[in-house]
Amino acid sequence: MGDGAFLALARNRHSVRGYFPDPVPEEKLERCLEAARLAPSACNSQPWTFIVVDDPELKGLLADLTSERLLPLNHFVKQAPVLIVIVVEPANLTSRLGSWIKNRDFPLIDIGIAAEHFCLQAVEEGLGTCMIGWFREAEVKELLGVPAAKRIGLLIALGYPQFDAAPTKHRKPLEETVCHNRYRLQPGKDV
Ligand SMILES: Cc1cc2nc3c(=O)[nH]c(=O)nc-3n(C[C@H](O)[C@H](O)[C@H](O)COP(=O)(O)O)c2cc1C
Repeated sequence: MGDGAFLALARNRHSVRGYFPDPVPEEKLERCLEAARLAPSACNSQPWTFIVVDDPELKGLLADLTSERLLPLNHFVKQAPVLIVIVVEPANLTSRLGSWIKNRDFPLIDIGIAAEHFCLQAVEEGLGTCMIGWFREAEVKELLGVPAAKRIGLLIALGYPQFDAAPTKHRKPLEETVCHNRYRLQPGKDV
């Protein structure tokens, strides 16, 4: 029996680090944003704003803020025709209370889920994405007019992938990452 549509989608999604310059059709982008909008969040707080950066000049400046000249990191971001910037908005009162009482960062968790909804829908649309966590936050905020007090959670590069085939996934095996009923202490790490 096959995996089913969702698992196939999850297997197919991979970080795309080479894009064609073709623009992303508006309706495809909208469906990705809609998938992100539908994501769950603590207390349904929806603590996010998605800035779609597709103005070529602005996008180039933004891409520059994700890489360092001397590090082989994120130089591909410039190729993507669209960059999404996820601004962390203040959570609602119940989520904030929950975060405080339980010492959890709910908004960051929420944003991660929304970002993955976006990326999975992109695969469905024949598009590629790469989440970008390495960026110069203060400069990104200044460039896009985001108030200094807010945080940028994540960027997502979006566009048509140059390479179709999903590379082999390097993942820890299930046996290593799952245990049943009780935590399995790891010899050499926990004991
Ligand atoms: C929070 C987060 C931040 C990331 N930041 C970057 C980044 O700055 N540059 C990059 O090339 N990939 C980045 N990635 C992509 C990961 O390297 C990638 O998801 C991981 O290696 C697994 O590969 P896959 O996405 O192809 O399955 C990020 C992923 C996540 C979830």
